[in-house]
Amino acid sequence: MRSPVQEYLESIVEQCGGTDGEVASYIPELADADPDGFALALATIDGHVYTVGDADLRYSIQSISKPFTYALALADQGFEAVDAKIDVEPSGDAFNEISLASDSGRPRNPMINAGAITAASLVAGDDGQHRFQRVLEWYGAFAGRELDVDDAIYDSEITTTHRNRAIAHMLREFEVLQGHPEDALAQYVRQCAISVDTRDLALMAATLANGGVQPVTGARVLETTSVERVLSVMATCGMYDSAGDWISAVGMPAKSGVSGGIIAVLPGQVGLAVYSPRLDKHGNSARGVQLCERMSRDMEMHLM
Ligand code: DON
Repeated sequence: MRSPVQEYLESIVEQCGGTDGEVASYIPELADADPDGFALALATIDGHVYTVGDADLRYSIQSISKPFTYALALADQGFEAVDAKIDVEPSGDAFNEISLASDSGRPRNPMINAGAITAASLVAGDDGQHRFQRVLEWYGAFAGRELDVDDAIYDSEITTTHRNRAIAHMLREFEVLQGHPEDALAQYVRQCAISVDTRDLALMAATLANGGVQPVTGARVLETTSVERVLSVMATCGMYDSAGDWISAVGMPAKSGVSGGIIAVLPGQVGLAVYSPRLDKHGNSARGVQLCERMSRDMEMHLM
């Protein structure tokens, strides 16, 4: 017999259809995504995962990587060192805005690309390969399984990512980055190409909901002080220039990615993930936003 939660999730997926938005088209691998591809996953902090749609469909994590790399930078370098490089103020700008805060000279937050490239550069490691291996294992600890990279996505992005390349070089010019800007850029682009499914994302979100302990493996992945910090920047900056609309309507820390994924975290309760690749004008999944709004209202998930 299906549980009431499962029945509820299936019913809202039926009701929140919609074909608004456009699939990202800046590289062929994203442009080829089925616009009607869809998955919803809800992971509880005791490790139960409810799913609707194709929860095993793989896609690149893209910007949903940002809070997890920021968490690793905090774990590796400590708050003071990371804060010296990346601020925690919402920018109200698009994710790929070419800007640094005029007062501090730092990227405004770790969720926009300037901050995310900087966070990628702060991951400890002997060389690029080691640094990236640590990122892969780190995300895998949140997901509860070994993850890998979609090389075709990486190859496409690294050759066409002129705007991020410009941001990386700007960061080097202003001495936010210390090493070679291409190394930080490659690290960032590769982390965005890590392949996940919607179940993985729900469990990654549930690990944050569970105070840093992965609900299925029971491993402590992140200290609670870092969980607080990561959720704070997700709440204020995770949805970019629609962060205000999001927090008003949904009321949960969240992060979106250009593949069409969104994660949302209800601390102490659940991690939620939705996949639908048609994006709104902010680069967030249009159907994903609609579904999260609906669930937040129905299930009283709004934290404020
Ligand atoms: O261009 C980039 O930075 C992408 N690879 C990731 C951007 C992203 O996912 C933005 N979020 N909606």
